Amino acid sequence: MNGENLPRAKSDMIHSINEFVVTEVADQVAGCASLYIYDTGLAEIRSLGIDPKMSIKGQGKQLVEHLLVKAKKLALSRVIVLTRVPDFFKKQGFSYCSKDSLPEKVMKDCELCLRKDNCDEVAMEFILRPRENAVIPCKNVA
Ligand SMILES: CC(C)(COP(=O)(O)OP(=O)(O)OC[C@H]1O[C@@H](n2cnc3c(N)ncnc32)[C@H](O)[C@@H]1OP(=O)(O)O)[C@@H](O)C(=O)NCCC(=O)NCCS
Repeated sequence: MNGENLPRAKSDMIHSINEFVVTEVADQVAGCASLYIYDTGLAEIRSLGIDPKMSIKGQGKQLVEHLLVKAKKLALSRVIVLTRVPDFFKKQGFSYCSKDSLPEKVMKDCELCLRKDNCDEVAMEFILRPRENAVIPCKNVA
């Protein structure tokens, strides 16, 4: 919307249609967002946008909340977003994180972006549950 979202090929959108949720105003799609699931525990909110012509307050928040609930039901631990509207995501409970903490696969999509050489997006995360300890404590067998 308004050139804020990463361009996505139509074929990519069609293949990803099940990842999308939408809002409707007067029976018309007014907003959308998708949840892309990476390797264990991580998902990314993508393609969040509200049509400015049908901008009834609260749609963005509703879409993000819906995707966080979905991620939680799937037992994911972390939802991330790359965004130019950090203040909106702060209001939804996200906090800043380092782009370096994101898997290479997340960053590869930036290759499609017209602003890739002059990126002004920040990375943010919503922790749903703490990561499991990397080291499993030993148990006494005696
Ligand atoms: C950013 C966007 C999704 C917000 O959707 P929205 O429906 O307008 O937002 P909501 O009405 O649900 O707002 C929820 C809260 O966030 C605030 N908010 C909305 N947009 C904001 C922004 N750009 N910056 C800071 N706060 C914002 C609202 O004031 C509201 O605050 P409140 O809970 O204190 O009342 C929408 O403006 C949009 O489509 N922008 C263009 C595309 C874009 O930037 N997408 C994000 C890609 S990561």
